[in-house]
Amino acid sequence: MNEVSLPPGRSADAFAYRAGTLHADGVPLARIADAVGTPCYVYVQRAMEARWRAFDAAFAGRRHLVCYAMKANGNLAVVRTFADLGSGADVVSEGEMRMALAAGVPAGRIVFAGVGKTAPEMAAALQAGIFQFNVESEPELEQLSAVAAGMGRTAAVALRVNPDVDAGTHAKITTGTAENKFGIEVGDARAVAAKAAALPGIALVGLAMHIGSQLTTIAPYRASFARLAGLARTLMTEDGHALERLDLGGGLGVTYDREPPIDLPAYAEAALQETAGFPGMLVLEPGRWMVAEAGVLLARIVYVKQGSLKTFVILDAGMNDLIRPALYEAYHPILPVAEPVPGAVERPVDVVGPICESADLFAAGRRLPPVAPGDLLAIGVAGAYGAVMASGYNGRLLAPEVLVRDGTFAVVRPRPNYEAMIGCDRLASWQIPPP
Ligand code: LLP
Repeated sequence: MNEVSLPPGRSADAFAYRAGTLHADGVPLARIADAVGTPCYVYVQRAMEARWRAFDAAFAGRRHLVCYAMKANGNLAVVRTFADLGSGADVVSEGEMRMALAAGVPAGRIVFAGVGKTAPEMAAALQAGIFQFNVESEPELEQLSAVAAGMGRTAAVALRVNPDVDAGTHAKITTGTAENKFGIEVGDARAVAAKAAALPGIALVGLAMHIGSQLTTIAPYRASFARLAGLARTLMTEDGHALERLDLGGGLGVTYDREPPIDLPAYAEAALQETAGFPGMLVLEPGRWMVAEAGVLLARIVYVKQGSLKTFVILDAGMNDLIRPALYEAYHPILPVAEPVPGAVERPVDVVGPICESADLFAAGRRLPPVAPGDLLAIGVAGAYGAVMASGYNGRLLAPEVLVRDGTFAVVRPRPNYEAMIGCDRLASWQIPPP
């Protein structure tokens, strides 16, 4: 039996067996399942706080701003958790910006990233008075200048540079190579910076980068930080730009299976060393690392189906609730909520959902102790890119979200109902209403 304990910066123990049943920071998951129903997401708030504090402390010697990447988990209560600690937010749409503001993140701590910001989104962000726009192309720069000048404002801009370093992660989440849609190529950066300086609505304040997600090694970071700092030096000393900020992006990896997590002190040391000659502040945009291990997707077994070749454990959660396994072949740990008895024989099973697609597979050939219909399973490391990537595919209601703290819990996103779901659509004017 493991007691729940949360050493600073560690959140892997947010979920632990106590008295034979899996708990989330003192609350039995079975109690949450009974009260809220399944499937549902469960987040441990203290684990998120421990991560944010540890990350912030790693940069203590340097002027910096942690802008939590909301795309990992944008629930209002989660973002408020970080806002209460002094966090900023990295947003990629007007919707995320509004959510950040609603959660209590000051506009002056919001960074707006993303390759396709529209003119209305730019106007909304200028109106709100955000900290920084990370601009990814020349056309975007021109558009932002036009919008800002039209409003009589100046947009603080960091140019996102593509350092052309392969992060060595999954192809769908690698962003830092020249083959990628993200950022301005290093070779073009001086020309684009010159252009930025000449545009009326733009104040060029910094450079930004983000080379990918779920990085578990330091080398690609070190190489990119060095390249970014080198470029900043050139822009400042040779081209006369007054840069105040380097935005180093996010991407810190966590342990899903057996991969080593990123070494936070080593990451911070690489960032601090490689940017030591830069006089301004650092902006950091971690998402996954802050929340992944603090969350599980809680599901109930509907059926156990014995095929001639395989055993299928069919859950009430599906790929619409957690799409990472289907989309990236991602591994997620799966734990029975009832602690397996010592010596229980594990057998390989396919853990699947109810969706009408073969891709609706959480794990193939996963070794599990004996399980039965009605049993609860926790799909682990689901706090990041889980609920935010959910859909209503197959007419399924979005799973609710629950926040746990010190032995108590709150539903921080209720399950919608079918009336609300059906009420999203309208008949066309020429269609006869149903009887
Ligand atoms: N900054 C920028 C500009 C980004 O594009 C991202 C993530 C982040 C920060 C935060 O990265 P993180 O610290 O979370 O790795 N849905 C995928 C991950 C997509 C990440 C997209 N960009 C997944 O489930 O693995």
